Amino acid sequence: MNKEKLDYQKYSKYNRDQIIAKLKDTLKDKRFQHCLRVEDTAIDLAKRFDVDPTLAGLSGLVHDYAKQRPDSEFIDIIKSHHLNPELLNYGRSIWHGYVGYLIVESELGIHDNRILNAIKYHTIGSPYMDKIAQITYMADYIEPGREFDGVGEARKITRQNLWDGVKYQTKSTISYLANNGKAIYPGAISTFNVIVAGK
Ligand SMILES: [Fe+2]
Ligand SMILES: [Fe+2]
Repeated sequence: MNKEKLDYQKYSKYNRDQIIAKLKDTLKDKRFQHCLRVEDTAIDLAKRFDVDPTLAGLSGLVHDYAKQRPDSEFIDIIKSHHLNPELLNYGRSIWHGYVGYLIVESELGIHDNRILNAIKYHTIGSPYMDKIAQITYMADYIEPGREFDGVGEARKITRQNLWDGVKYQTKSTISYLANNGKAIYPGAISTFNVIVAGK
């Protein structure tokens, strides 16, 4: 599929070229290139699983749009939108999705909840991820630039069954954080309990 032909303006104030320009303005090149690979991977998964490639590609392209904003910007949004104050105990790795979707909404004029939820949940997951959110979550994890133990298996599983991929990533991420003594955002534990443990 020729991604240049996808009509992102159906869901955004901007077309693909304009979104690319905005991503380049706000992200370092390494992160920008990752976004392009996630877009490609999301389109590929969308075709496999019979999902709208425009929604999936756009979600993949903009999922990290807010990644390199200063902490102060996120903290201001958490306070002004009266989001859960627990969020203040975490950092940009959580905020760029869980709070960053609000930046995407206001700056890129994207109001479709499927895309906004995909961005919101791309790091911590959610028991309520729809297909677009699942694809964004997995495309971010398995895009061709990723190198970690198990990535080959993650790619194989995901291409066979999207939901099995979601389970694999959720389990692996929680295990990694626990094994390395890192804080786990409570929402990520809820995701694990539902998606992996079936509670
Ligand atoms: Fe991200
Ligand atoms: Fe990402």
